[in-house]
Amino acid sequence: MAFTREESGDDGVVQMKAKDVNENISKLRRVPKQAKMKVSKRLEGIGEYYFSQKLREIDQLNRQGKNIINLGIGSPDLPPHPDVIRTLQEDAAKANVHGYQNYKGSPILRIAISEWYRQWYSVELDPDTEILPLIGSKEGIMHICMTYLDKGDEVLVPNPGYPTYRSAVKLAGGKCIEYKLKDKNNYEPEFEKLSKKNLRKVKLMFVNYPQMPTGQPPSTELFEKIVAFGKENNILIIHDNPYSFILNERPMSLLSVKDAKEVVIELNSLSKSHNMAGWRVGMLCGAKEKVDEVLRFKSNMDSGMFLPVQLAAAKALGLSQDWHDQVNAIYTARREKVFELLDLLNCDYSKQQVGLFVWAKIPARYKDGYELSDDILYNKNVFITPGGIFGDAGRKYIRVSLCGAVERFEEAIKRIREREPQK
Ligand SMILES: Cc1ncc(COP(=O)(O)O)c(C=O)c1O
Repeated sequence: MAFTREESGDDGVVQMKAKDVNENISKLRRVPKQAKMKVSKRLEGIGEYYFSQKLREIDQLNRQGKNIINLGIGSPDLPPHPDVIRTLQEDAAKANVHGYQNYKGSPILRIAISEWYRQWYSVELDPDTEILPLIGSKEGIMHICMTYLDKGDEVLVPNPGYPTYRSAVKLAGGKCIEYKLKDKNNYEPEFEKLSKKNLRKVKLMFVNYPQMPTGQPPSTELFEKIVAFGKENNILIIHDNPYSFILNERPMSLLSVKDAKEVVIELNSLSKSHNMAGWRVGMLCGAKEKVDEVLRFKSNMDSGMFLPVQLAAAKALGLSQDWHDQVNAIYTARREKVFELLDLLNCDYSKQQVGLFVWAKIPARYKDGYELSDDILYNKNVFITPGGIFGDAGRKYIRVSLCGAVERFEEAIKRIREREPQK
């Protein structure tokens, strides 16, 4: 049967009409035009998260039988403490825990967070007003941006730094002003240089120590400078603090600086410190007024966490130094292997780094970390994160994750050694 296609007037569909009026009238139908639905402007310049793309490629290589050793992603492979898992199991079996939860989180979890802050960071937080449990600290980054940023507002973000700061700022309509972190300055912000800039439109500054990806630990002096900078320039400082328990002898909170609550919101997380990345438990801590402001946004986005997860998280926060020491002993052994692997690749690195990764400068024969990463991936079936994904200041670096058994590092070393010319 012959059809003519006619553009319809204003509703964006194409109508098909039978020429032959004797044809069954039911064949007259409206067919949706196959136009591609445009994504919103706010997604312009926001690509798929690097790791989500790379993991797909690694999957494909594995399907071809390559057996890639992935030393990229920082997802702890060790389990949480057995008591934490038991708490989840036992509480999940109860009848009365399955409903919606308080938007501000269970008081049991908030009290556990305040005790944890007192015990480990010497910071006093009111569990009723100064703590907001989060579904991971990553969501807190977005909530803060949505709470405080209007179109055109500026935000200081570290380069290199966690890519989510940049995407959350852009998604919220803000503008990123990068500040460079350099090896020669111990990866600390260059405050003097920053103070000379026009900071009138800057509302927020993201900082993160222990720093990811550089592994730079915090210090009291640095934290005091950050708080002073925030006060002098009327900038709300967002300290993202998920790595303070990993290979770091002295966990520190930016809130421990005197009167820091005036200008600081701190994000923290159980993902790395308690091997609970998949559980999605984090927290936002700060002055009541700021917690309330972020809650205005967050309470419209989600409806709280499953209560047994919150109760198990509270259990985890009560774990002793012993448990953290055991976890860190495992990371220490792995880190030794990573140092060995980096020596093989002729990379430069500091042994004073803390956190879940090792950051290393690549040898001059590689153009950048992407080239080294692809070389090792395609020729040796080992994936290492190129430093450039954390900002252009990371271009000459790579980042190796400690999330894997010692044997995996040994196998990676073996594969790489087979290729390297003997020195
Ligand atoms: C610096 C930094 N902040 C935040 C996060 C997110 O942590 P969470 O699992 O608590 O969302 C990560 C995760 O890799 C990170 O590296």
